[in-house]
Amino acid sequence: MIRLRGLTKVYRVGVEVIHALAGVDLDVCANEYVAVMGSSGSGKSTLMNILGCLDRPSDGSYELDGRNTTRLGAAALAQVRNERIGFVFQSFELLPRLSALQNVELPMIYAARGWWGRRKRAREVLGRVGLGDRVRHRPNQLSGGQKQRVAIARALINQPSILLADEPTGNLDSKTSEEILALFGELHAEGQTIIVVTHEAAVAVRARRVIRMLDGKIVSDLPVNADPGLQRELQALREAA
Ligand SMILES: Nc1ncnc2c1ncn2[C@@H]1O[C@H](COP(=O)(O)OP(=O)(O)OP(=O)(O)O)[C@@H](O)[C@H]1O
Ligand SMILES: [Mg+2]
Repeated sequence: MIRLRGLTKVYRVGVEVIHALAGVDLDVCANEYVAVMGSSGSGKSTLMNILGCLDRPSDGSYELDGRNTTRLGAAALAQVRNERIGFVFQSFELLPRLSALQNVELPMIYAARGWWGRRKRAREVLGRVGLGDRVRHRPNQLSGGQKQRVAIARALINQPSILLADEPTGNLDSKTSEEILALFGELHAEGQTIIVVTHEAAVAVRARRVIRMLDGKIVSDLPVNADPGLQRELQALREAA
């Protein structure tokens, strides 16, 4: 489903050159659940932004559903992003003046679907994430966990090939994080492909595969149970509890 080859991203700030991605090869199949870990600045968000077609690589290729996205123009890339990608951010990124329902409807504006169909689908998805009784609330009338559920509903509205989440529980307390992770688990069980960036072992352990990044490269790629660092962190968490 996802195929990256020799992916690089170079930023230039003044005279400084930053190799945010320094040659990434990666394959992700349909219905995988992948966690991306690595220290701050290792290139996780840069990778996610390229996977989400929010940004372009400097070099290398990115194939999504058999299509090389690196050759697409801006309009075609925006269409891929809209139709195939669902993105969830740490900071929710909801529009403050719109209701939950209107926020969720937004990505459907471009889909060939009438007003009534859009509204019906948005209500369904809000119900799916457990917010059927909050459709008229604006973001400032919702809790952090509820805001993230709205963002997840918005990400799912066009039935994307991949759900990308960059530290989705970074702004949430541990109980609310658990609820969001339970929802991800259900979506995965229903067939959704998920890639989640996280610093937390408790989040990564919900995935099936853990990729670790360092200095813009993938330095390990293992099943969750086989990642020694993760098992150590989990053991430490259990001892602390
Ligand atoms: N727009 C930009 N312009 C210049 N440099 C950038 C830009 N975005 C990211 N970088 C640099 O690229 C590198 C990778 O950044 P990135 O945001 O991908 O890291 P990260 O792994 O997501 O870190 P964190 O865990 O702190 O979120 C960093 O050195 C960062 O300073
Ligand atoms: Mg980041």
